Amino acid sequence: MLKFVAVALLLAACSVWGDQCCTPKQWESFIGIENTTAVDGMIKVTQSYATESYDFDKKKIALVFPAIGMRIVQDYNKHMMYTIVAGMCFTTPWPAPMFNCVPDNATLLASFEMGGSGGLMIDQYDLQVFLPGFKGYMQLSRPGCLPISQTQYFDSYVTMFGFTNVTEGIKDPSVFDIPSPPCPAMDIDNVVKPLLFEPAHP
Ligand SMILES: *[C@@H]1O[C@H](CO)[C@@H](O)[C@H](O)[C@H]1NC(C)=O
Ligand SMILES: *[C@@H]1O[C@H](CO)[C@@H](O)[C@H](O)[C@H]1NC(C)=O
Ligand SMILES: *[C@@H]1O[C@H](CO)[C@@H](O)[C@H](O)[C@H]1NC(C)=O
Repeated sequence: MLKFVAVALLLAACSVWGDQCCTPKQWESFIGIENTTAVDGMIKVTQSYATESYDFDKKKIALVFPAIGMRIVQDYNKHMMYTIVAGMCFTTPWPAPMFNCVPDNATLLASFEMGGSGGLMIDQYDLQVFLPGFKGYMQLSRPGCLPISQTQYFDSYVTMFGFTNVTEGIKDPSVFDIPSPPCPAMDIDNVVKPLLFEPAHP
């Protein structure tokens, strides 16, 4: 009997360590954004919201900000970010990698249980591996591996993104569309590299 218990525990331990945290390949979420800036020694907090669409097959992430009529599309194949606002389209290089699973070298900072015993388990990772060059942390649910929040520390401000109402799949794939024009040259495959990094001015 004791031997059986020991084996069962070992298996349980294996499955806990063995199952990698991978988000669904396509998901969407409501995002609450809180930006805290120090202005003349005073803390200023601004809030906004967006919806995020994540498609690991297309290697694209779209952010729609309905209040200001802005849409951002990050293309992780082309390493470009497109900002579409007021009929204009701006391009910015976006060299960050896209992740579907928590990389092996991600640093787990802490784990929390939200809502008391039996509540939602959250793993908090250092942001460094997910978004090289950025300071902050990333929280994912476990099990499920769904985004909970992301916090980025900049020199003079902190931005927090809170993810709620995460749903699997993409309701409207047109969120990933790049208007062409005014963003044509940047969206053509095999275009000369230096051209890609010239910001487009409408
Ligand atoms: C947060 O505030 C900083 C400083 O004012 C600004 O540069 C940045 O774009 C803001 N970010 C968001 C998401 O509003
Ligand atoms: C983590 O691993 C990836 C892939 O092997 C590597 O590109 C990245 O530099 C590593 N990051 C850190 C912080 O070690
Ligand atoms: C989030 O989901 C809840 C439950 O389905 C719903 O009542 C709420 O309106 C949703 N919020 C947003 C901002 O979509």
